[in-house]
Amino acid sequence: MRFAYVTYDGPDDDREVLLAAWRRAGAEGAAVRWDDPAADWDSFDAVVVRSPWDYILRRDQFVEWAHKVESGTRLFNPASVIERNTDKTYLRDLGVPTVPTHWIHPGEQVALPHQAEYVVKPAISAGARDTLRTADRATAEAHARDLVAAGRVAMVQPYLDMVETEGETSMIYIGGRFSHARRRNAMLADVVPADHRAVPARDPGPDQFALAEQVLAEVGEDLLYARVDLVRLPGGAPALIELELTEPYLFLSTTPGAADRLTTALLTRL
Ligand SMILES: Nc1ncnc2c1ncn2[C@@H]1O[C@H](COP(=O)(O)OP(=O)(O)O)[C@@H](O)[C@H]1O
Ligand SMILES: [Mg+2]
Repeated sequence: MRFAYVTYDGPDDDREVLLAAWRRAGAEGAAVRWDDPAADWDSFDAVVVRSPWDYILRRDQFVEWAHKVESGTRLFNPASVIERNTDKTYLRDLGVPTVPTHWIHPGEQVALPHQAEYVVKPAISAGARDTLRTADRATAEAHARDLVAAGRVAMVQPYLDMVETEGETSMIYIGGRFSHARRRNAMLADVVPADHRAVPARDPGPDQFALAEQVLAEVGEDLLYARVDLVRLPGGAPALIELELTEPYLFLSTTPGAADRLTTALLTRL
């Protein structure tokens, strides 16, 4: 077996961990840039999307790439999943509790309601890129206008300050089964903790498990990996902030056994 680990030119500390797990399972692995023109994707038994973290401003090209790869070999997750999941408008259609969002499409008026604090972000993003938090309505509107003027869909949400106390919960599923969870640090906080890369393990509550499983049931696809990112609304109810089915960081390097579980799940799907 030969597997491609789809990546970019930059750091990713899961990469060597998964490649090593593939070797332990007797498979050959190679890290390949998604946009490497010399890559021979058909020569792999499976192509596993992991860290193509520079596609954000070239998302259409990336989706086209996924379909092209899938026409010649197995792609994880599937291209149809990637197509839907790389644009956060999927949050509107899932039928699960999400963060209340005011959507603004190119060509639409930007007029925001008064609220305490705004988060303004593009529907296609990762790593909080082009994401703004502000208490000033005019500043929020200006950022939303910049996004739609650039042809992007803007999302406007209330700032949920629970991300700084309880924190966001990322639940990682491998081959459809819960594997591990982490408490993620607030990315838009005024004060970034000194050890902001520390992401402690977390035991999700029953309400979080129930929502994560509802989300995955709504997707209704066989997924090699999934990361369900949850917050809590002011009343305490869990809500989906993001469903990562394309290029989630999976905390493999700090979760014993997870890379082997992913490898087993991959092998059973081939
Ligand atoms: N409404 C919000 N309230 C508080 N923090 C937010 C909100 N939206 C985004 N954030 C912060 O920004 C980060 C990135 O936002 P997210 O919606 O997950 O998009 P992406 O990860 O694709 O950039 C979140 O992990 C969170 O820390
Ligand atoms: Mg996120």
